[in-house]
Amino acid sequence: MSKQHGPLADRPVNPKVGLEISHESAPLHVTGAALYTDDLLGRYPGALHAWPLQSSVAHARITRLDVEPAYAVPGVVHVLTADDVPGVNDAGIKGDEPLFPGEIMYYGHAICWVLGETLEAARLGANAIEVDVEPLPSIMTLAEAIDAQSFQGHQRTVARGDVVSGLKDATYRFDGEFEFGGQEHFYLETNAALAHVDEAGQVFVQSSTQHPSETQEIVAHVLGLRSNEVTVQCLRMGGGFGGKEMQPHGLAAVAALGTTLTGRPVLLRLNRTQDITMTGKRHPFHATWEVGFDADHRICALRATLTSDGGWSLDLSEPVLARALCHIDNAYFVPHIEVHGRIAQTHKTSQTAFRGFGGPQGMIVLEDILGRCAPLLDVAPEELRRRNFYAPGQSTPYGQPVRHAERLADIWSILTERSELDRRRGEIEQHNQEHPHTKRALAMTPVKFGISFNLTAFNQAGALVHVYRDGSVLINHGGTEMGQGLHTKMIQVAATALGVPLDIVRLAPTRTDKVPNTSATAASSGADLNGGAIKDACEQIRTRLAVVAAGRMGIHPDDVRFADGLVTGIGFHDRQIPFAELVHDAYFQRVQLWAAGFYRTEGLHWSSERMQGEPFKYFAYGASVSEVEVDGFTGAYRLRRADIVQDVGDTLSPLVDLGQVEGGFVQGAGWLTLEELCWDCGDTPTRGRLSTQAASTYKIPSFSEMPEVFNVHLYELATESGVVYGSKAVGEPPLMQAFSVREALRAAVGAFGPTGHSVDLGSPATPEAVYWAIERARQATSSSRPANSRGALVAATPGS
Ligand code: MTE
Ligand code: MOS
Repeated sequence: MSKQHGPLADRPVNPKVGLEISHESAPLHVTGAALYTDDLLGRYPGALHAWPLQSSVAHARITRLDVEPAYAVPGVVHVLTADDVPGVNDAGIKGDEPLFPGEIMYYGHAICWVLGETLEAARLGANAIEVDVEPLPSIMTLAEAIDAQSFQGHQRTVARGDVVSGLKDATYRFDGEFEFGGQEHFYLETNAALAHVDEAGQVFVQSSTQHPSETQEIVAHVLGLRSNEVTVQCLRMGGGFGGKEMQPHGLAAVAALGTTLTGRPVLLRLNRTQDITMTGKRHPFHATWEVGFDADHRICALRATLTSDGGWSLDLSEPVLARALCHIDNAYFVPHIEVHGRIAQTHKTSQTAFRGFGGPQGMIVLEDILGRCAPLLDVAPEELRRRNFYAPGQSTPYGQPVRHAERLADIWSILTERSELDRRRGEIEQHNQEHPHTKRALAMTPVKFGISFNLTAFNQAGALVHVYRDGSVLINHGGTEMGQGLHTKMIQVAATALGVPLDIVRLAPTRTDKVPNTSATAASSGADLNGGAIKDACEQIRTRLAVVAAGRMGIHPDDVRFADGLVTGIGFHDRQIPFAELVHDAYFQRVQLWAAGFYRTEGLHWSSERMQGEPFKYFAYGASVSEVEVDGFTGAYRLRRADIVQDVGDTLSPLVDLGQVEGGFVQGAGWLTLEELCWDCGDTPTRGRLSTQAASTYKIPSFSEMPEVFNVHLYELATESGVVYGSKAVGEPPLMQAFSVREALRAAVGAFGPTGHSVDLGSPATPEAVYWAIERARQATSSSRPANSRGALVAATPGS
């Protein structure tokens, strides 16, 4: 790197990063002009439509598949089956996801796909297909899977210290069990792919994918082509949330296969029912645990086994589990720890990435433990939490030093003040004394979330930056836009690095033929990685331009400054060269005006077998306070107020970050309180069917569930060295801020019963779950210990 490349985190004067600008597509979003994959259909006359034949049994062998009757339906052009696949019949990267299956693995599994002149023709064609199956036994629940020892993939353990003696020496010991639900992504745009082939046989797929390079690889292997024969483009997505990290690949491959066989463009867009019944969701988990506290209520040991429900195939279940194991500690130091993780195989959709990527599932286990144990330890939950925070110098169970651990306590005290915690506590107490049938409560929870892909290789990115002769700038990078504002931030980064106004920077769609070998836009690292690559490309160009400017001004190139579209030198403030003029000069001096940029995150190491190393570049911190009011007759509740402090480093784009924090929190609250996936688990003909397969039965948060008062504060003076312009990732961490909602519900439920009893709350804590928890609270006996709430928690005799 040249000297001109300043340290990654340093900001020049008048940076465009940090400015409050709205999302680069905001006007298009609100006017409806923003194009999504499905909107492009009109550009492809003669396109065919694809419709799947979905199974209506959870597990079965296909003994006969007769597609002939489909061809009798007017408008049916082709039925795609395994026989059509010239390459590998697999939609994944683990070899366990046949694109056209011989064995049905879940209710709703796509058996084959019909291509029709119209969607209706394709649908009727699919209805006409005849399938005979031989039903096989199915596993629907985690309990059934554990009983049957039905597991898939690697089992991993994170361990440190000596958990046996840690537990033995503990003053207080508790154990319990906890099972919690998954989550449907419910992105507004369902999965879509639009494929066509050009005259040279080049396959072009537009896909709603967070990982265009992997979509490209899988399309290529299904078609038996090389990667250079397939291009994948993603204009933007109407939400991904992790649900478009792996799931789009097979759908893109079906569209691509259809277009190569028929020579006509093929559109595949799932309707909501298809998307919800076919694609993977957040993993539900089951946990068993034993915890020990010392006399000062510090955690001395934790032993746990986490079992995730991976559904029918692996896809991202292993890395999701790894992140869960790496986040069970959340913000707390646990000296002796042993956590086992395993992945159940069940006959359900293949569960996959979802905002937080297993992190929330790890963290909720310890947050639940603390919430359940606090009353038994006779300590306020927030005091129990604060007391166990990491201190500077301590390391995680997997051996990574917790840098900036002091931010936890700092954020905690800032939030205590900003949320007026002490005043409100008094008001709540008074309210609860006066109201026997409604109880209010608040709770405060912290977040520590590791940023980087656990898989070290993914922590790289590329960019392509063009400066045209008129001084205008076009940037390309490997990240995808799904509403999170990545493109907005990247325009700000480029404008800052080149010292030009925002409006001369344009961003071109994400395409694999522009920037190759990209990682998924995931793990919240889109801005860190692609921003690093764009900055690198821009600085290469700026360095070359500086030589031209220095020549004109008779100064050293290091002394040239670029800001706001004007180029000056130190001590030459009276002489300014417009950026476009300098670019023009540079062109005539035959100076290269474009550059490819590259970024790799330094200092990462991870062993997935040993589960040890330093997988994260840094941690994103935060804390939140939520206040709820619960109705004792119905279990219904309101979120009265939420206050959040989020550490985003020095923000790249305050409005974008604010939106991410608000959206993440609300989505997390949805997971924890409203959204309940129900599958038919009985011994009925519809066993395996997802019964919550529409917005009418699957409740996602809407305006009415927003906190009535919602204050988000970005932690100040938080420069993160080693990240582009001192920023931190923001995409996922706020989701886990919603733990305070669940803990507030727990506290409110507790207020219906005697003090000191432990509240065991289901997750999601739906009004129904809250109602039953209230019923149990009312029956609970006084604060006597050892308490026994449903037999789950048993305190050891002190000193035993
Ligand atoms: N925000 C919006 N509006 N839509 C999304 O789909 N996905 C989330 C988060 N925020 C998402 C979102 C997830 S799962 C991740 S990993 C990050 O954005 C990905 O983008 P980033 O790396 O650019 O933050
Ligand atoms: Mo996000 S779950 O890493 O796509």
